[in-house]
Amino acid sequence: MATIRIADKAGACYGVERALELAWNAVSSSSGDVYTLGPLIHNPRVVSSLDALGAHEASTVDEAAGATLILRSHGVTPSEEERARAVCRNVIDATCPFVKKVHVAVERLMHEGYEVLVVGEKGHPEVEATLAHAPGARAASAPDEARELDLGGKVGVVVQTTQSLETLAAVLDAIDDGSREVKLVNTICEATASRQEAAAQLASEVDAMVVIGGRNSANTTRLAEICASLCDKTFHIEMAEELDAAWFAGAEVIGVTAGASTPSAQIASVVEALESLG
Ligand code: F3S
Repeated sequence: MATIRIADKAGACYGVERALELAWNAVSSSSGDVYTLGPLIHNPRVVSSLDALGAHEASTVDEAAGATLILRSHGVTPSEEERARAVCRNVIDATCPFVKKVHVAVERLMHEGYEVLVVGEKGHPEVEATLAHAPGARAASAPDEARELDLGGKVGVVVQTTQSLETLAAVLDAIDDGSREVKLVNTICEATASRQEAAAQLASEVDAMVVIGGRNSANTTRLAEICASLCDKTFHIEMAEELDAAWFAGAEVIGVTAGASTPSAQIASVVEALESLG
């Protein structure tokens, strides 16, 4: 039977646990309908259990008019928040405090006269909300994308909380041509950095790696990429039922890690399933 090792830092972070607690409190104490604006966190399994408990997903603020609306952990745009406070009976802000710090940073950089660059994935809800806090700000997730932006002489840089330090360093290298002023506010979340470090360490020591978390989760996908670069047999799954014994043929040590949006119960069920594979 293979030995199972769990990364020193893995699973739900402070921001996700806080958002889940706010949502559970809202469904247990509210007499009316409860909605989340988009998925509360990027974990389809958790989102469907919230739905079963009574916190349904709304794709627009107006779908939740007259009801309780929980603002997702990745943050929302100022206009969405304004609209929510105007039309909803109750607004619960589950935006992670570390994401809020990014909003404050871009607003400050903009007021200081910097052209704002967000190192992150365009289209991701966190990045879109951050961009909306500093009109004119732009995003790039790779050196080539940053070069194509044709930035001016004074650039303020913040980072999507789940980005890797390597990506940040590569983008900074691409834009720092020596002639422009670049001011960095490093907003990578410590929970992300510590999970990536622990995952890399474990992936380099085991025969196979299992990464648990939503396929729509940026930080889980990044963990899977890091593990795959160090361990050929890396498998990104959302739930225990996806495990296939054939993946682990000949593996003596199997490592497990999980994204910041993966609750500990989900990790425990995967570990239990791995142990039962024999
Ligand atoms: Fe917040 Fe960091 Fe988690 S930004 S949601 S504590 S990964």
